[in-house]
Amino acid sequence: MTEDVGVTRREVIRFISSFLNRKPHKFCPECSSRVARPTVSVARSLSTSSQSHAKVAVLGASGGIGQPLSLLLKNSPLVSHLNLYDIAHTPGVAADLSHIETRAQVKGFIGADQLDAAVKGCEVVVIPAGVPRKPGMTRDDLFNTNATIVAILADAIARNCPEAMICIIANPVNSTIPITSEIMKKHGVYNPNRVFGVTTLDIVRANAFVAELKGLDPARVNVPVIGGHAGKTIIPLISQCTPKVEFPADQLAALTGRIQEAGTEVVKAKAGAGSATLSMAYAGARFTFSVLDAMNGKEGVVECAYVRSEETECKYFSTPLLLGKNGIEKNLGLGKLTAFEEKLVADAIGELKSSIKKGEDFVANMK
Ligand SMILES: NC(=O)c1ccc[n+]([C@@H]2O[C@H](COP(=O)([O-])OP(=O)(O)OC[C@H]3O[C@@H](n4cnc5c(N)ncnc54)[C@H](O)[C@@H]3O)[C@@H](O)[C@H]2O)c1
Repeated sequence: MTEDVGVTRREVIRFISSFLNRKPHKFCPECSSRVARPTVSVARSLSTSSQSHAKVAVLGASGGIGQPLSLLLKNSPLVSHLNLYDIAHTPGVAADLSHIETRAQVKGFIGADQLDAAVKGCEVVVIPAGVPRKPGMTRDDLFNTNATIVAILADAIARNCPEAMICIIANPVNSTIPITSEIMKKHGVYNPNRVFGVTTLDIVRANAFVAELKGLDPARVNVPVIGGHAGKTIIPLISQCTPKVEFPADQLAALTGRIQEAGTEVVKAKAGAGSATLSMAYAGARFTFSVLDAMNGKEGVVECAYVRSEETECKYFSTPLLLGKNGIEKNLGLGKLTAFEEKLVADAIGELKSSIKKGEDFVANMK
């Protein structure tokens, strides 16, 4: 873009930056929260100071989440190669994105025959493939279809890029992470520090809702959300919010319920046209950029994600994680919970355990 077309590149950058910009926070022991909010790098993606050479694949790239997520990744200098895989429409999506004047080289891959090539040598693989909910459905209702899809994709990752950071968006996340882990184990390449269930949308929503209720700048709010990614397994830790916020008991219960059912709010509003896609693309990009930042040696990158865990009696559990070059560097645990939050955790354990077992049994019974 040149100076004579009316809108200069600097003006465009200023506009997008003001729209998306977030001040960087670091994980900092002096901070009132254990969990400092990561830099949301969507805006930073316009800077050239943080380039890297990551090869990233999006599997399910033509979908409601896949397309805007791929757009955000294409816009980042953290990504040098962007492989877009789906069973439909990827030639068009890739051709479209490849015309954007950013450096990531975009390639489209379509159909099972091209899956191996799509993930070969990738450092990060993000998976928004699979069917979304319709009104009246739970995330678990998606199990039968999405379990098979995720298992096929995980198998390709295990054979072609076993070291990749795997970021799973496909629901039910509470089961698709155990499925992915079991597939990686079958191939003898499981690294629990590199398999993530993306729960970032729960954090994004909690931040937005708290900011709305308290009249705060959402960019400054950080609510850790732990547990899993379905209904009552979604556990916002409002007591650990930065800045510190307080709510009367009835408002706290209503806020917690809204965060737990926020996905359903979108499913109902879309009335049969799917579930959250744009906010999920934003959240997926935020998580991917955090993983890439940490891989590039940035210190103090913390995100919550649903991972293999020793923090509770559940084998998989989401908590704040300090990320590093090799994925999870340190699990920061649950922190100090209030009695209200302790009960939420206790109420989530049974459902989480059964979703985990369902995922593990699925792989054990696979032919
Ligand atoms: N983790 C979260 O917070 C979160 C939030 C919202 C949605 N989701 C989940 O993300 C998934 C995708 O949602 P969406 O709204 O983008 O759905 P969508 O139907 O719009 O897109 C899904 C895409 O997956 C593709 N696909 C289907 N089978 C495939 C296969 N075998 N290999 C590769 N691609 C395949 C489809 O062709 C489609 O393009 C759903 O499972 C949904 O429940 C997760």
